[in-house]
Formats: sequence, C-alpha cells, structure tokens
Amino acid sequence: MQEDAFPEINYLRLSLTDRCNLRCFYCTYWQEFQKLPPGEILTYEELLRLAGVAAQAGIRKVRLTGGEPLTRRGVVQFLARLCQIPGIREVCLTTNGVRLPEMASDLYQAGLRHLNISLDTLQRSRYRRITGQDNLLEVLAGLEEALDLGFHPIKINCVVLKSINDGELLDLALLARDRPLQVRFIELMPTAHRRQWQRHFMPIVEARRRLSGLGPATLVASSATAGPARLFRYPGFRGELGFISPLSQHHCLSCNRVRLTAAGKLRPCLLGNSEIDFKGPLRQGASDRLLAHLFQEALHLKAFETGRPLMKSPWTGAAMASIGG
Ligand code: 5AD
Repeated sequence: MQEDAFPEINYLRLSLTDRCNLRCFYCTYWQEFQKLPPGEILTYEELLRLAGVAAQAGIRKVRLTGGEPLTRRGVVQFLARLCQIPGIREVCLTTNGVRLPEMASDLYQAGLRHLNISLDTLQRSRYRRITGQDNLLEVLAGLEEALDLGFHPIKINCVVLKSINDGELLDLALLARDRPLQVRFIELMPTAHRRQWQRHFMPIVEARRRLSGLGPATLVASSATAGPARLFRYPGFRGELGFISPLSQHHCLSCNRVRLTAAGKLRPCLLGNSEIDFKGPLRQGASDRLLAHLFQEALHLKAFETGRPLMKSPWTGAAMASIGG
C-alpha cells in the first residue's frame, strides 16, 4: 500500500481525565475501574506544550474528551489557551452534557464552538439504566442552552443499543428535524462486557433501515478534518443524521486522528494496542525537538497499523474512560 494513500493526520483527541460523573454500562468495567492517581494525569501546562508540538506536526483540530472533560477543574481557562495555539483551527469538546447548564456560557466565551453531546435516550428511566445516574433533564437543558448560545456544530452521539433504545431511534432522529443539530448513531463497540455487547449490538445499517420512513436521504460531503460519520440530509430537516459503524464498516483508510490518553500516552489507533509515552519524556525535560520527533514516530506507527483487520486480537488497551472514544 502506498503511503500517500493515507489521509493527512490532522486531528488530535486529548483525554483530560479518566474521571466521569456517569457510569454508562457499555463504556468500561466500572467495578474494576482504577482511577489514575492525580499526579499521573498530564497537567494543563504539559497538555498545552504537546498541543503546540502537535500543531507544528500538522494537527489542525483538537478535541477534548475524557472521562468527562467538564469534571476537570480549570477546563475553561485551559480551553481558552488551547484556542490561542497557532495552527489549531478547530477546538471541539465531547461531553455527556450533565454540567453544560452551568458551564455552556463560559465555554462559549472561552472560544469553544464545536460540541458533541452524548445522549442515548430521551426517557428518564432508560437514561438511568444506561448511565447509572438521573441526569437526563440536565443534559436536555444543557443542549437547549448550547443551541441558544449559538454553538455550531452541535452533534449528538447516540450509541445504538438493541433492546434498550432501538425503539427510540426515530424520536432521537427527530431532534435534528427542528434544530440545527447532527444526530449521529454509533455502533456499539465491545469495550466492556462481551456478553452485553452480543446482546445489545445492532449493525448500523439496521438503524438506518429503521429510519427509512423519514424519506430519501441525501449524502452530505465531508470536510478534510471530518470524522468517520456518513452524514445525510432528510426532507424537512434543519439538521442532519450521521451513521458511524466502527465495526461493520471499518474506516481505517480514512482515519485522520490520533489520541492522547489522560495518562499521557499517544494511541495511533483506537482499536490497536500500541501506545507511545509522552509523560515520561515531558517530565524528564525533553526538548520540543525530541517531542516533535516522538510525535512523528507515532504518526508513522499509525501508517503501519492502518488497514489491519480490526479486533484481530482481544482489546487489551485502556478502557474507553481514559481514551475518550
Ligand atoms: N461503543 C460505542 N460508543 C462508545 N462510547 C463509549 N463507549 C462506547 C462503546 N462501547 C461513546 C460514548 C460517547 C463517546 C465519548 O464515546 O457514547 O458519545
């Protein structure tokens, strides 16, 4: 395979914390979940330094993830500084939305415009079943607040869960009819319990089929930093619907991203097991040049891993809670 067939790696996801205020059953083995000691999580100064190195290596888009990034103190000030780094054109945040009602306005003022909000159901009891918490009303209030403030784009991430929320896909899709939102349906990945995955996995084509009553869908072209969602417009919709199928149609050949875990390890591939440590070098006084060299190595490793069959070996990597999806 020719190297120039790969897309440019221009997108970095930064996990700010492995802590989360929800306990979604599909995310990780919460019973066994060991929080990182606070000293093991990269400081904001370290993150900003790495973001600068990454920008020089061609990163144009940075997404803050977690855990839940809004649970980390000082995140608004950090975000404002991140937005100032030369070369970084897009700063995005993935959040479960629970703290949005109180934080959305500060986030907007800090310069954030792109929001991804995780929301798998519009029913309170089901929300509690999925996430272990009774926070649906906060999330919905946060979403409306974000719309009012003018965040754009706002994307809703909805994991499709057979026999949990599959009867609700139409209601979730209709969020995008009257609001300028992208509702993105995501295939469940086997990141936690294999059994539960088998019970609740639904191929994304089935989700699409169930929404076919919405009328003819028109494929929307994606931008250079866009993610793996296939986006569609539907008649009468202000927003769009997206479909993400990490398992049934893997998208290695168009993958433009790398991920930094909360513990400071760069993962070239979500489903691969390799990681490159940046925390050690950062704390041992590495120069920017050395960090840049390490970053380039990670990008090369990505080219090597890309295109390999997914999930060939069991998932041995860190839990989703510390990679951030
Ligand atoms: N399968 C699919 N999506 C997942 N996420 C977390 N775990 C999984 C999984 N097993 C998603 C969340 C959130 C994003 C951060 O990652 O729903 O939208």
